[in-house]
Amino acid sequence: MRRQRLVAARAAAAVGQKTAPWFSGVEVEMAPPDPILGITEAFKADGSADKLNLGVGAYRTEELAPYVLEVVKKAEAKMLEKGENKEYLPIDGLAAFKKATVELLLGADSPAVKEGRVATIQSLSGTGSLRVAGQFLSRFCSGRTLYISDPTWGNHKAIFTDAGVPWKTYRYFDPETVGLDEEGMMADLKAAPEGSVVLLHGCAHNPTGVDPTKEQWKQICDLCHERQLLPFFDVAYQGFATGSLEEDAFAPRLFVEEGHDVIVCQSYSKNLGLYAERIGALNIVASDKDSAARILSQLKKIARPMYSNPPVHGARIVTEVIGNKDMFDEWKGEMEMMSGRIMTVRGELYDHLTRMAPEKDWSFVKRQIGMFSYTGMTPDQVANMTGKHHIYMTKDGRISLAGLSSSKAEYLAAAMVDSVRNF
Ligand SMILES: Cc1ncc(COP(=O)(O)O)c(C=O)c1O
Repeated sequence: MRRQRLVAARAAAAVGQKTAPWFSGVEVEMAPPDPILGITEAFKADGSADKLNLGVGAYRTEELAPYVLEVVKKAEAKMLEKGENKEYLPIDGLAAFKKATVELLLGADSPAVKEGRVATIQSLSGTGSLRVAGQFLSRFCSGRTLYISDPTWGNHKAIFTDAGVPWKTYRYFDPETVGLDEEGMMADLKAAPEGSVVLLHGCAHNPTGVDPTKEQWKQICDLCHERQLLPFFDVAYQGFATGSLEEDAFAPRLFVEEGHDVIVCQSYSKNLGLYAERIGALNIVASDKDSAARILSQLKKIARPMYSNPPVHGARIVTEVIGNKDMFDEWKGEMEMMSGRIMTVRGELYDHLTRMAPEKDWSFVKRQIGMFSYTGMTPDQVANMTGKHHIYMTKDGRISLAGLSSSKAEYLAAAMVDSVRNF
């Protein structure tokens, strides 16, 4: 490295430059594009009129345009009227937001909330919450392994690797049944060392769209007791999976009711369409108020040198919407509308696929829930989808149905059938 810099300095002197460019002396390799957000970059560069971006999980209208919820516009208008300032928030965020978000997650009557046993910190959406949680685990629970489902959301492994949390995977998906690999999951979690941490998707598992049933959740909950595993929920789709905020919070609520200490990360990217506001929260449910207070103090200590304090705008939107009965009801209606549109295009895609290729069982398309369909397509099939049909999707065969319209469902089905039959 020093020699490289010396050579560069001499070369610069030879052409009359004062110093060599500093970065010519350090090796910075080109990083690969992000597996999910990189797809949007490639999509933008594609000139085809047929192109379809099913890579990123972002809700689109039937016209495939981004959607700002009506209730968000109303909340913003109210905020403007109030003329609130832009002072720094406390490190752990807006107090009213913290109260609203934990109550939305666990229910206002939750004993854990009432007893002050939940340490909540407003964070930079789901990703930022997971990162702070990761930092907390690596600082205070070192030596504990985090178990992550195989497959999982594309960013999980990078988040926990960067946070210095050792992780392993547990079996989750059975390609034969295109459903939950219950036996594999339970066996892997049983084999995990006592005291490990297990990352669970609260609802609408990404990328598979396969969730445990309520009965299976109860078994996982019992197993966590038996093996003393710490349940760590990633809740990125509350209200978006089924259209009901309560239904989609079933699993984390069950684990808290059953007496577990629990970590839960929340995101308002999808359910309120606040993707770019970066608003979410990290909640750590402890067994008593004193532990929660100590945990919160350490979460603040982690956040302060990382980003100091969180942004205020999204927090105020969420607080307005949850705190106003009319707006809250309107939000529920819009969530039902969004999840309903996704269910409709699921049905349409299934109908086209079944008509075009009746020899194959496509029922998984209708069974999976949430934004995505995990198609089981191979990398070669995915390459054909993009190369020939200009359909952009993640390499693991996941398509975001939130980016599909009824009018494009037939085009997508034809491309899928072509890819599955020929590759
Ligand atoms: C499972 C899961 N967790 C977390 C996130 C984080 O999203 P955000 O950081 O936008 O809240 C996502 C987004 O796609 C996700 O699917």
